[in-house]
Amino acid sequence: MLRYFQLLLVIMYVGLSAVSSRGSKSSDTSTDREGKLLSLFQIVRFPNEPCIGQASKNGTCYTADECTSKGGTNAGTCAQGYGVCCTFTESCGATSNENCTYFESSGGEIGACQLKICPCSDNICQLRLDFNQFMITGPSTSTVIVSAHKGGVIGAPGATKPISLASRCLTDTFSVLTPSGQSPPSICGINTGEHMYVDSSATCNDLVFQLGNTVQGTGVGQRQWSIKVL
Ligand SMILES: *[C@@H]1O[C@H](CO)[C@@H](O)[C@H](O)[C@H]1NC(C)=O
Ligand SMILES: *[C@@H]1O[C@H](CO)[C@@H](O)[C@H](O)[C@H]1NC(C)=O
Repeated sequence: MLRYFQLLLVIMYVGLSAVSSRGSKSSDTSTDREGKLLSLFQIVRFPNEPCIGQASKNGTCYTADECTSKGGTNAGTCAQGYGVCCTFTESCGATSNENCTYFESSGGEIGACQLKICPCSDNICQLRLDFNQFMITGPSTSTVIVSAHKGGVIGAPGATKPISLASRCLTDTFSVLTPSGQSPPSICGINTGEHMYVDSSATCNDLVFQLGNTVQGTGVGQRQWSIKVL
């Protein structure tokens, strides 16, 4: 269906016939003359809508040139073949302002690793993070008592309720930094299939992993993530 599709053909007839008929005795070949007489410009417009690309990633429909200049991956066609489904996959250290950016691990990351997400337009107020794959070291299971609290106040006079390291993210963390607002709490562990909404910031959000030297715990063979950011 040609719903949102607009094909504009501008055929410019360059009126050289008068000139040439007035003109020379030279014997232009017929192909030369056709080249002079007709210029054909073809302009195709289509909306930059979401599309489903190869490798089960979603992208945005752009022209092949736009996709290349934006640093995307051509993952199939869209807009009746006039556009390409352009997908965006980034890893540590990158910045993206493309809707539907995939933040992926490349394997072996240690220490700080962050992706900066900037708004793709000026009316964005939230980001949705889909953890298509999310596996980092989980919370500590250590039962070592490190302090005590009373009524929730750590070290209060007469505090006897024990506090252990259990359930704290001590090795790896993932956090989203929202400069202009409140950042959500850090998370860790296996969160594949979960999602998170965060306030978006006009001055960009940072998606930050802090990864310890060695991955710990059962079920986490290797740290791996693929986070779809909408
Ligand atoms: C971003 O992508 C989602 C899903 O593909 C779409 O619903 C949404 O309208 C897009 N947002 C913008 C600002 O283009
Ligand atoms: C791609 O988008 C479609 C329609 O919006 C959605 O149903 C599907 O889950 C998306 N696929 C991925 C891999 O995100």
